[in-house]
This record gives sequence, C-alpha cells and structure tokens, in this order.
Amino acid sequence: MRVIVCENYEEMSKVAANMVAGQLLLKPESVLGLATGSTPIGMYEELVRMNKAGEADFSKAKSFNLDEYYPLAPDNDQSYHYFMNEHLFSKVNIKPENINIPDGTAKDVQAECDSYEQRIAQAGGIDLQILGIGNNGHIGFNEPEEALHSRTHLTDLTEDTIEANARFFASRDEVPRQALTMGMASIMGARKILLLISGKGKHAPLKAVLSGKITTSVPASLLNLHADTVVITDRAAYEG
Ligand code: GLP
Repeated sequence: MRVIVCENYEEMSKVAANMVAGQLLLKPESVLGLATGSTPIGMYEELVRMNKAGEADFSKAKSFNLDEYYPLAPDNDQSYHYFMNEHLFSKVNIKPENINIPDGTAKDVQAECDSYEQRIAQAGGIDLQILGIGNNGHIGFNEPEEALHSRTHLTDLTEDTIEANARFFASRDEVPRQALTMGMASIMGARKILLLISGKGKHAPLKAVLSGKITTSVPASLLNLHADTVVITDRAAYEG
C-alpha cells in the first residue's frame, strides 16, 4: 500500500484526478469504479475541468458505482444516481450507456445484484477503483461486521452511517436504512485502487488502515491484501 500525503483537500483532489486522467490516457476504454460522498467531489470537479480542457477523455470509458441507497429512485435528489449526474456524468463526455449504478428501485434485489456482478465481469473487470472511507472504516456500504460479503448485496446501514449521512438529508428519518453495495471481492478485484481520505475526522479509520492489521471491523483494512492500492490523504487526516 502506497501512501501519498497531500497538504490539503485541493491538492489531494488534483493528485487523484491526475491519476484518473492518466488511467484514461493509458487505456481509453478503462472501466472505472466510482464513489460518492463528499470526499471525491473535488476530484470530480477537477476531472470536469480537465475534460473541458481536453486533458481527460471519458468517451470510451465505462463506469460502475459502488453503491446506491435502497429503496431510492434515480431521480430522487438524495440518490447516488443524482449525485453522480450532478458532479460528473452530466458534465463530461461519458456515454450514458456506459454508466452503471445499482438500481435502488429493483423489485428483485438478488437479480439486480447478480446482474451487476455479471456486468462488471463482462466489462472485463474494474481497472481503477476510487474509494472514500466511512468514519467507521466502511468502503462502499460494506459496514463493519463479523463476516463481510464478497459480492454485490443488499445491506443494512449501521446507526453510525445513518448518523454520518443524515447531513445530506432533510432529517435523520429520511436516510434510507438499507443500500445495495458492491461486496469486498467486487472491490478487491479492481486492478488498481485509489483510497481518498480527507479531514481530521477520518484520522482514526486512516490510522486503522495504515496499521496493516486486517479486521472485518474495519472493512477498509482488507485493502492491505490488495496488490496495488494507493492511499491519497491530506495532512489533516494523516496527522489527526
Ligand atoms: C458513504 C458512501 C461511501 C463513502 C462514505 C464517506 O457512506 N457509501 O462510499 O466513502 O459515505 O463519505 P464522505 O466522503 O462524505 O465522508
């Protein structure tokens, strides 16, 4: 695991955006694994700028998002579909048919999860996976548990996560209690992973990951088993 410590959020966002743009330059038809949350917003802003400047080309790229609230319709402004359109998809030259996000309205949840895994496999697997981290060490919505799921599944959100994500909703009661998320093997199958960690509040999960110890109570710690993970953090998260 390589660690890059940036001075601040802006620098972290630029470093990450440059890596995504580099990936697209090396392999224009790259399959990108994308994340939501506040952490990658700066990276997406920089990618939008680079796309307009001709420095990042999404025309042949495919994308798979990590997760989506369940149940939540794509046009709901709290959905991750909405978030991605707002911050990236509507502003860069990615083709709509190349965008994949778990369907938060799926009636047959198992069929949706199976189809999501199949679509990732058919695309040739994920080349570059972007991750943020929850305060409790979750990645995607793989919450700390005694046993983690390997593949895309429906999961219950922990009280911690409901609390942390309530800031995006009108009230805590409106936060969905469940989500569809890629599993640990879906994430670990990516050829390269960039884990973005920003702010003092993320010092504890970052420290747990960098300790090198692997535990299902910090799902992100499993990234220590991945051959090509880069942690990009700002000084605030690194020093705490
Ligand atoms: C959500 C997402 C995660 C994200 C986490 C942290 O729960 N499912 O993918 O990493 O929030 O979000 P933030 O970056 O806003 O702290």
